[in-house]
Parts: sequence; structure tokens; C-alpha cells
Amino acid sequence: MYNLLKGKKGIIFGALDQNSIAWKVAERAHEEGAEFVLTNAPIALRMGQLNELAEKTGSQVIPADATSMEDLTSLVEKSMEILGGKLDFVLHSIGMSVNVRKGKHYTDPNYDFTTKGWDVSAVSFHKTMNVLYNKQAMNEWGSIVALTYMAAQRVFPDYNDMADNKAYLESIARSFGYFFGRDHKVRVNTISQSPTVTTAGSGVKGFDGFLAYAEKMSPLGNATALECADYTISLFSDLTKKVTLQNLFHDGGFSNMGVSDAVMERFTEE
Ligand code: NAI
Repeated sequence: MYNLLKGKKGIIFGALDQNSIAWKVAERAHEEGAEFVLTNAPIALRMGQLNELAEKTGSQVIPADATSMEDLTSLVEKSMEILGGKLDFVLHSIGMSVNVRKGKHYTDPNYDFTTKGWDVSAVSFHKTMNVLYNKQAMNEWGSIVALTYMAAQRVFPDYNDMADNKAYLESIARSFGYFFGRDHKVRVNTISQSPTVTTAGSGVKGFDGFLAYAEKMSPLGNATALECADYTISLFSDLTKKVTLQNLFHDGGFSNMGVSDAVMERFTEE
């Protein structure tokens, strides 16, 4: 361990169970010397195992529905009280599509579900940054990261309306990131992660095929949740101070591939 986050304070959204990317980020942040508050939706706290992670990392848990300005305001206020000052890092690791959950096809969604999905998956990031920005809750040279997927740029049919939600999320990172950089010297980026076996990931139809295909296409293979956590730590550290407004692919090279030998072999078998 490198003490990369020594003395830094933050909030980590979205750890549900040991598979969650946010869970790994919390473990790694703790190892690197950070102090933080863990948060998730009240319903997820009842289902999940977040207390176990809190104990392990010496953190407190504050429930917050990331679509509620009231919950987010109270979360940020309480976190600053608990941690004794402003924040250096925030991880947004939240995604959910009701259309996916209910098996609605992309071409004929329920638009109330569509609205709920973009509120949870994208606008929640805007709301979080609204509270952090207007309460001046971030220290200078702080870092805000959200997790995204390449379906924001390219077609992955079974990703359904999450593709649109991710495009929205990435745009919010750039647009809000401008004001955060200009006014508070805070950076805002998204990490576009490989398909990863988690509760949210496995909800995507045909996920196993998806995972195997990406593995065969990527020269370095799929990035794991732990590797995603390591990359996130680097973005929270002082080693990446001038990286902002970026969508950063963390995918073993997948996003720049056309075809690989391993995939071609499948199509040239006699
Ligand atoms: P996960 O299911 O462990 O995490 C999703 C989290 O969102 C859960 O903790 C859930 O409780 C939380 N959440 C849902 N609604 C919420 C609300 N209203 N308020 C607060 N929290 C809420 O799955 P995973 O994979 O760790 O997801 C984390 C992020 O990574 C998501 O943004 C996801 O889209 C993204 N991602 C995942 C990939 C994958 O293949 N698993 C690939 C690329 C990005």
C-alpha cells in the first residue's frame, strides 16, 4: 500500500455486497489511509451487508436515496460533521433501470420506468454535485468520480435504456465538471468499466455472453472490480490533479478494438 489517500475524507455511494465495485473501492480507500462515510438507498441497507464493510473500514453508514435532495443534503452535512471537515473525494456508483428489471424491451418501454431509471442512474449525479457545490463541501483539488459503461457510445442492444442513462451521466460529469473546476478546483470524471459480475451487471440480459466476448476482444482481458477500485484510488489521489471532464476507459483495451484473433477464430472454424 502507498498511503495515497492519507488524510483524505470522502463519501462512497453504492456498496451493496462484496461484489459491488463500490465495496472494493471502500476497502482500497481504507487501505490507502482514507476516512469516509458509506451510503446507500434505505431499501438497499436493509437487504445488504453494509454494516460488515463499515466495521471493517471504521466507517459510519448514512442512508440516502440519491434521487432525494433532502436525503443528499442531510448526507453531506452529516458526513462533514462525522469526518470533521470538507471532503476530498466522492464516488457515485449507482445504476438501475426499471425497464430492465421488468423485462421491457428498448423499443417499447414504460416511460414512467424510463424516467425513474434516468433519475436514479444519471440525475442523481447532478443532484449530488448540486449539494456538494452549493454547500462548498469539497476541498480544493478534490475529486469526484462516477462509474459508467461504453454502451453510452456504442450499441449493446441488451443494455436497454441504461445506454441512454449512461450517456446522460457522462454529459453531466462534463457539464458540472466545468463549474466545479472553475469555481472550486475540483475535478469530475467518469470511469467506463469492463462488464463486471455484480448485482447490477448480472441484471443485463445475456450478461455471460457479453462478459466472455469482451474478455476475448480485450488484449489485456476484462478489468475486474478490484482493478477498477485501484484506478478509482488513483483518481482520488494527488497524482491525477489535472485530469478532469474525462470519460476514462478502464476495459483492458476493449474500446479501441475492431476484432481480435481470439474472436476471429470463432468465425473461421471449419
Ligand atoms: P451494484 O448493484 O453492486 O451497485 C449498484 C448500486 O446502486 C447498489 O448499491 C444500489 O443499492 C445502488 N442504488 C440503486 N438505486 C439507488 C438510489 N435510489 N439511491 C442510492 N443508491 C442506489 O452493481 P455495480 O456493478 O457495482 O454498479 C456500480 C456502478 O458501476 C453502476 O453505476 C453501474 O452501472 C456501473 N458499471 C457496472 C458494470 C458492470 O458490469 N457491473 C460495468 C460498467 C459500469
